Amino acid sequence: MCGIGAYIGDKDASSILTSIIRDLEYRGYDSCGIATYSDGKINCKKDIGKVSDIDFSSLKGNVGIAHTRWATHGIVNFENSHPHSDCDKKMYLVHNGIIENADELRNILAGHEFTSKTDSEVIIHLIEDFVNAGDTVEDAFVKCLKLLEGAYAIVLIHEEKLYVARKGSPLVLGVGNNEMFVASDSVPIQKYTRNIIFLEEGDYGVLWKDNYKINNLDSVDVDREIKILNNNIDEISKGSFEHFMLKEIYEQPKTIERAFLGRISDDKVKFGGLNISEDVLKKIKRIILIGCGTSWHAGIVGGYLFEDISKIQTKVEYASEFRYKNPVIDENDLVIVLSQSGETADSIAAIKEAKSKGAKVIGIVNGVGSTISRMVDGGIYLHAGSEIGVASTKTFSSHLVVLYLLSVYLGSLKGTVRDPAKMLNELQEIPALISGFLENNNIEGVSSKYFDCDNALYLGRDYNFPIALEGALKLKEISYIHAEGYPAAEMKHGPIALIDKNMPVIVIAPEGRLYPKIMSNISEVKSRKGKVIVITTNGLEDGFDEVIKIPKVSEYLMPLISVVPVQLLSYYIAKKRGCDVDRPRNLAKSVTVE
Ligand code: G6P
Repeated sequence: MCGIGAYIGDKDASSILTSIIRDLEYRGYDSCGIATYSDGKINCKKDIGKVSDIDFSSLKGNVGIAHTRWATHGIVNFENSHPHSDCDKKMYLVHNGIIENADELRNILAGHEFTSKTDSEVIIHLIEDFVNAGDTVEDAFVKCLKLLEGAYAIVLIHEEKLYVARKGSPLVLGVGNNEMFVASDSVPIQKYTRNIIFLEEGDYGVLWKDNYKINNLDSVDVDREIKILNNNIDEISKGSFEHFMLKEIYEQPKTIERAFLGRISDDKVKFGGLNISEDVLKKIKRIILIGCGTSWHAGIVGGYLFEDISKIQTKVEYASEFRYKNPVIDENDLVIVLSQSGETADSIAAIKEAKSKGAKVIGIVNGVGSTISRMVDGGIYLHAGSEIGVASTKTFSSHLVVLYLLSVYLGSLKGTVRDPAKMLNELQEIPALISGFLENNNIEGVSSKYFDCDNALYLGRDYNFPIALEGALKLKEISYIHAEGYPAAEMKHGPIALIDKNMPVIVIAPEGRLYPKIMSNISEVKSRKGKVIVITTNGLEDGFDEVIKIPKVSEYLMPLISVVPVQLLSYYIAKKRGCDVDRPRNLAKSVTVE
């Protein structure tokens, strides 16, 4: 993964670069570094730790590169952190991606002294090799790129010039007034300029402070439009909240509203960017939902919605597994890819597979201008604003809103939705209900009783089964407690063996068609002395260890409500355990490696 940034202009490079990589820490935060050019040489500072742990202000100069790392090749240590230099320290480089033939290339670089175990260091030595043989830096850069297999976003600094390249990993340029910016995504740059160029696959470029050129690897000039991004960049700040995750949980009434705002008119759903005609959509025979992590969980809710509301056969696939099945897809399939970042490598690979087989592909993403948003036939943005906490929260609920709207839209086209007005009105009531729940709930108190458990089981049925999965994922991600999510009725086929007096079992059990059945499942837990924490719309029963009362809504909208307590529960438990909630160990927010 990793986040990379660069600057060339008249301003102090190190302060701009520090800000850029701080904003990119969601991509990795094992170690970081900056290299700047001044007085005829490059100075570099790097170390393990987060950007806030290192003072880069001693680095002078108006041109530089920067990196924040998520280790793939080589452990987390000083040597493996970026930037990496050639033997003479005349050029430095930062890299995001994986060079698959790094070992092979290392073997042909006899005489070069390597200081790290990274695949990235091979790139700079390869460039050095060509320069030593008489090539210009630009020619050496291009020759090197042609030898690399795998994925890369690269920035190289040599004197007062930057060299950039992209294949498989994102890289964007910001074109300012007598200055240029580079970053792994556009958000950190938009503080400085709204003029953004998204590099395409196979592009490389040379940047001066007042000019730039972008070529393909055959050194042919390619024309890349400067997009003026006018989207709202939320100030990346925690405000009065202790953590980004808590802030983002509390933002949900607003972000849920933003996901449906402007998409409901005259009791109908309208999407601006689907780019697929209603005639084609009416003929869709099957939907395939694809995603990773939390986005995959949103996809499972989508599976229930499309089958239940639109009466369209739906399957849900892990992006990382999808293409290896050699899936049977044709033009009657609608593939919907869900992603917060819009950069997840496995999801991108799945899109390529689906498109190559003729399916229509829609992306539902949060990352404006992201790779996925640019490669799909049509798209729907979440408009949730930047999500900084590594554990996804608000973008999950935004995904659910868009999936609900889409299921009503497709159901209306197919004639399976009788009363869209009622369904859409109900959706519009959700933000106020969540606000009320956020203002008044007992979750912090519940968490203080269970924060030192070693294991937890989450159970749900029907629309709330994916919320059980999501609750377990949230807990393990940020508190490092082992947790499993199961359909409640499946518990008796295995997990029940784990239940004893030390096992908290969180059951998402709102009233609805399966309420009596899930109550029977709870009895099975209680008979084995498990601790039952029930999340329900009916707070009257006793006999549970804890009851978390949530507002009652239609079953197909319930996941939007029931996910909030499981998010908060994991947040408070992780906080009580002293975990780094926003930056949990070993994780990164945007996973751009397969
Ligand atoms: C990482 C993140 C998860 C996220 C998943 C998919 O694992 O830590 O929070 O759900 O990637 O990311 P995407 O950006 O495609 O939704």
